[in-house]
Amino acid sequence: MSDDSLLAEAWRRLATLAARPGAANIRPLFAADPGRARRFTATLDDMALDLSKTAIDGEALVALLDLAHAAGLEGFRARLFAGAPVNVTEGRAAMHMALRAPADAGLRATLPGGIDDASALAAAEHARMRAFVADVHAGRLRGATGQTFDTVLNIGIGGSDLGPRMASEALTLAHGARLRPRFLSNVDGHAFAALARELDPARTLVLVASKTFTTQETMTNAAAVRAWLAGALGPKVPETEAVAAHFAALSTNAAAVAAFGIAPARMFGFRDWVGGRYSLWSPVGLSIALAAGWDAFQAMLDGAAAMDRHFRTADFAANLPVLMALVGIWHVNAMGHRAQCILAYDARLARFPAYLQQLEMESNGKSVGLDGRPVPRPTCPVVFGEPGTDAQHSFMQLIHQGTAVVPVDFILAAEPDHDRPQAHRILAANAFAQAEALLAGRSLSQVEAEMRAAGAEADTIAAIAPHRVFAGNRPSTTILFRRLDGNSLGRLIALYEHKVAVQGWLWGINSFDQWGVELGKALAAGILPDLTKGTAGGAHDSSTAALIARFHALRGET
Ligand code: F6P
Repeated sequence: MSDDSLLAEAWRRLATLAARPGAANIRPLFAADPGRARRFTATLDDMALDLSKTAIDGEALVALLDLAHAAGLEGFRARLFAGAPVNVTEGRAAMHMALRAPADAGLRATLPGGIDDASALAAAEHARMRAFVADVHAGRLRGATGQTFDTVLNIGIGGSDLGPRMASEALTLAHGARLRPRFLSNVDGHAFAALARELDPARTLVLVASKTFTTQETMTNAAAVRAWLAGALGPKVPETEAVAAHFAALSTNAAAVAAFGIAPARMFGFRDWVGGRYSLWSPVGLSIALAAGWDAFQAMLDGAAAMDRHFRTADFAANLPVLMALVGIWHVNAMGHRAQCILAYDARLARFPAYLQQLEMESNGKSVGLDGRPVPRPTCPVVFGEPGTDAQHSFMQLIHQGTAVVPVDFILAAEPDHDRPQAHRILAANAFAQAEALLAGRSLSQVEAEMRAAGAEADTIAAIAPHRVFAGNRPSTTILFRRLDGNSLGRLIALYEHKVAVQGWLWGINSFDQWGVELGKALAAGILPDLTKGTAGGAHDSSTAALIARFHALRGET
């Protein structure tokens, strides 16, 4: 059989297995196999990935692994780590792994103009970042008025915000921060107005994080912060001195950084083989190191490198990112589930779902295949989440009893970093209970018996009991590890990164571009003059034209 027909056969096999009567039922799988939990749990060091509470049985797992082989996943993985231009529409490698690999790893990365020594470039820039962090922490680098910095303000959006913000929060919430991390992403002036009230300009170190250094929101915010600093520190301190002392840039665009007035010594660079949503390991992660300390940042790099090694070398049947990806494929393509919920039972990971929304949906929210044709099957599900236990009091109703089946990823550290062990046991009990409830459900006869035991009348039982039934057999995955620290966070992030890459490959799409964000940007540029001039001109649909006119009317600009 040709590769193509093998692949087609592998997809057909999944469909056949999904069509078996009771294929979505999970409880019988536990009844049939006392060793199921162990058999369907994969580990990397202390990190366990329990996939047993999904409807995957031995046959389905074999079929999914066959699909991975038929799709040539080994070859894709080899090309990814070889720095081949896997981002085909932009002719680039996706070599973020070089940013966390040992300096002597010798990883290379293809770009349209040639091949970079990615390991050497990464090591050189990390050394500069480390020295900068040490100088700031030691007070050798100070603000323009001679005061030490107490806050790092990262200005950036998308990948230049979500990863650094999530990781800074995760690594500083338990132990406090060396510098207070603050983030400005939204162009909405209210966001900066709120920050300006709490920041001391004389003690604020500003990082302008933008791969392109052209993003409208980031450049607007950077200009606003520069004006605010200059206004606050002037007239004694000239604006150029304020910018020189307080600003640093994290970017690939040296010319634009220079044009903004930031000197090369204050620019930390990276290259186009680092995608925006994979950039927290690059200088874009400088706020993490400034806030949590270099050692925590380095531990995060080391953790991610450990996951890279595992992904690169482990058999697919024991490979955490591959298994997680295959379970996702099963949910989307065999079971027809179109959403994925992320529940981290850890307040420090409150921003993890927001980070994953970009990682997953910007990477795999595609409907055109690598061959330029429409993809023949659904791709990325809608990803959303909140921290547990908060989520239990908002959308978990739908996940337990709604008409849509939404698989959940539960994420939990066994040991907390606070001194209230009972609170952590309560947290963990809730995480495990949610997963157990999704699996076990509660039948009508159970509900009726419970209500009878509680003394309810027969007509009350008949009217109320159906509303209290839980169907169960709702899938979830649990990621459990010892403690949330740099190393486990690095492993967790890299686990999802590689899962996303594997899924993209199996769906036959390019996970590393994001053309879908362009149209809105272009149209906003076209609408802005209409709003500025006070006229609703331009070629807009009638709804947009009417909204522009109403906007003006509400502002008294007609
Ligand atoms: O939202 C689109 C996007 O290009 C993301 O991929 C990227 O992370 C973000 O904008 C920010 O881009 P930049 O770092 O160039 O400012």
